[in-house]
Amino acid sequence: MTVDEIRQIAVIGAGLMGHGIAQEFANAGYNVRMHDVTDERLKTARTQIESNLSLLAENAIIQKESIEPTLQRIQMHTELHTVTENADFVVEAVPEDLTLKQQIFEKLDGICPPHTILASNTTALMPSQIGVKAKRKDKILNTHYFNPPYLIPLVELIRSPNTSDETVAATFDLLTAIGKTPAIIEKEVLGFVGPRLQAALIREAFAIVEQGIASAETVDLVVRNSFGRRLSVAGPFEVFELAGWDLVLAAFEELYKDLNSSTDINPLLQQMVESGKLGVKSKEGFYNWTDAKVQAFRDRMNQALIQQLKDV
Ligand SMILES: NC(=O)c1ccc[n+]([C@@H]2O[C@H](COP(=O)([O-])OP(=O)(O)OC[C@H]3O[C@@H](n4cnc5c(N)ncnc54)[C@H](O)[C@@H]3O)[C@@H](O)[C@H]2O)c1
Repeated sequence: MTVDEIRQIAVIGAGLMGHGIAQEFANAGYNVRMHDVTDERLKTARTQIESNLSLLAENAIIQKESIEPTLQRIQMHTELHTVTENADFVVEAVPEDLTLKQQIFEKLDGICPPHTILASNTTALMPSQIGVKAKRKDKILNTHYFNPPYLIPLVELIRSPNTSDETVAATFDLLTAIGKTPAIIEKEVLGFVGPRLQAALIREAFAIVEQGIASAETVDLVVRNSFGRRLSVAGPFEVFELAGWDLVLAAFEELYKDLNSSTDINPLLQQMVESGKLGVKSKEGFYNWTDAKVQAFRDRMNQALIQQLKDV
């Protein structure tokens, strides 16, 4: 299977990630069939895609005239077999539940054509775990998008020891063809590269707040206005190559001993979830959220990400 043979895409799960992934393929000219468990969920996904495409057109990332043809390339179905019967490439984006993903991959393996590549958008699970009940282990891998998938270019491509070179090459070429920046992660591990690095950062951030070193607001202020700015133009290795590894070694020798390295979930995080302080979802977390504040925050984030897309 090569990228030239991939014509029909299927997306399983039309939630936050699924609808954006389907949109990306359709926007690049592929026919997409999307599956979710209810008509209502699929209707919401179509409305979200329309709104995303309008935002991209308003900001001259796509042409206004392309919106309708893109929407027409996306079909939605509540029956799984209808979206998979002629699919060449399937992306699964159902909730992060290993048992559910394993069941879906077993089902997909049974009903998709033999040549079909099966990709999961899991945040942290390994493709060998997700595909454990499927037979076509050479055609299973992860394609991990970042939210929102139509504004963040990178997709981590994670292979299991059984994923074939041919599957990796076809997936890499497909992601490149739709304008994404694929990064191949050669050795499967929980959380790959992006989520592992983010987990390390948020573990230390929680420890800082829990120990009363600084408030959550101050942590956000520091990150946003200091190294966060650099990170959008240079990776951590590039940044520290500028400083010099001798300086890094000297600075980190003592500091490392003082950093949080607990393998337990931080009690503050545990406590927040138990008391229903989930963030935007429950309107309360470290910040208090109103609908207007959420919208303003999303708009600010989207505008910054759009500007970055334009700057490339
Ligand atoms: N939210 C993020 O920022 C983000 C980023 C990267 C990766 N991911 C990963 O992407 C996946 C999806 O996350 P999300 O945030 O889009 O979740 P979500 O809850 O927004 O969407 C999941 C969708 O799957 C549907 N679904 C549930 N069971 C199903 C089934 N059996 N068949 C078909 N559809 C089913 C739900 O109805 C829902 O619409 C997860 O594995 C998540 O870890 C999420």
